Amino acid sequence: MGNRLVCICNMVSENEILSALKKGATSTEDIQYATRAGTSCGKCLMTIDQIVEEYLSGKPEDSQQKLF
Ligand code: FES
Repeated sequence: MGNRLVCICNMVSENEILSALKKGATSTEDIQYATRAGTSCGKCLMTIDQIVEEYLSGKPEDSQQKLF
């Protein structure tokens, strides 16, 4: 897990996304609602998708090397 900035438009870090996942978010749409990440230009949506998928598959640490 890291504190990298995932959504530059809305200043949302990976830790904030992981926190939303721990609170019960199960999709990119849930993350958008909870954090506003991915609600502006949309360039971070693929990264958010990866973080969600990896978290739900039990491997959140694998996402650290994949930003952009
Ligand atoms: S970088 Fe996330 S919406 Fe633009």
